[in-house]
Amino acid sequence: ASTVPVIAIDGPTASGKGTVAHGVAEALGWQVLDSGALYRLTALAATRRGVDETDEAALGQVALGLDVLFSSGRIYLDGDDVCEAIRQEAIGNLASRVAALPAVRAALLARQRAFRQPPGLVADGRDMGSVVFPDAALKVFLVADVEARAERRCKQLIEKGISANLADLLRDMRERDARDANRQVAPLAPAEGAVELDSSRLSARQTIQAILDLWKARAR
Ligand code: CDP
Ligand code: CDP
Repeated sequence: ASTVPVIAIDGPTASGKGTVAHGVAEALGWQVLDSGALYRLTALAATRRGVDETDEAALGQVALGLDVLFSSGRIYLDGDDVCEAIRQEAIGNLASRVAALPAVRAALLARQRAFRQPPGLVADGRDMGSVVFPDAALKVFLVADVEARAERRCKQLIEKGISANLADLLRDMRERDARDANRQVAPLAPAEGAVELDSSRLSARQTIQAILDLWKARAR
C-alpha cells in the first residue's frame, strides 16, 4: 500500500467536485485526479474511432490504450487539446453510459492509481473512496440539490459560451443520477467512512474551506 495520502471527493454530477478538488489540491500543494475526465476521454476516443457504444470489449480496449496527457491544466488526447470537447453534455452522457461497463472501469483502474504521487492526491469522481482509493485518509461525499446542480451547470456552460437550457439540463441530470446510482458496478453511493457534505447553500470557497477543516481535524 502507498503511504501517499489521498483525499477522495465523490458525488453526483455538478455537485462541485472538480472545482472543489482543484481548490483543495492547490491549498495543500497536492496532485489532483479528475477521474471523470478519463471516462469522458474514453467516450470521446470511442466516438472519434467510430466504436459502437454497446461493444464492451472494444470500449475496454479504447480505455486501456488512451493516449492522454494532463499538462498545465489542459488535457490532450492523441496530441489534440480536448479540454472543451470532453465537456460537451453529449460526451458526458456517453461517458456515463460507458462507465457502466465493467471492462471500461477495470481498464482505467491502474491509470487512476498512477496519479497517487507525493506529497498527496485529491481525487474526484464517483468511486474514489469506495473502489480506487479505499484507503483514502479522508473521504467526502459531496452532494447538492438537483436544482442547485442544474443551475450551476447551466451558468457554467453559458459562461463558456455554450448554449444551455435549464429544463433540459435538469431532465438529463436526473437521468444521469439514476444511471450512476443504479448501475451494477461501482454505483454512486457514499463510501464507508465518508463524510457527507451538502453544498447546496455553500459557495465553492466555503466548500473548499469545509474540506480543509475536515482534513486538519483528521491529521491532528
Ligand atoms: O462533471 P460530471 O460530474 O457531470 O461528470 P464527470 O465527473 O466528468 O464524469 C462523467 C461520467 O463518468 C459520470 O456521469 C459518471 O458516470 C462517470 N464516472 C464514473 O463512473 N466514475 C468516476 N470515478 C468518475 C466519473
Ligand atoms: O465536478 P462536478 O461536476 O461535481 O462540478 P464542477 O464542474 O466542479 O462544478 C460545477 C459548477 O458549480 C462550477 O461552475 C462551480 O464554480 C460551481 N459551484 C461549486 O462548484 N460549488 C459550490 N458550492 C457552488 C457553485
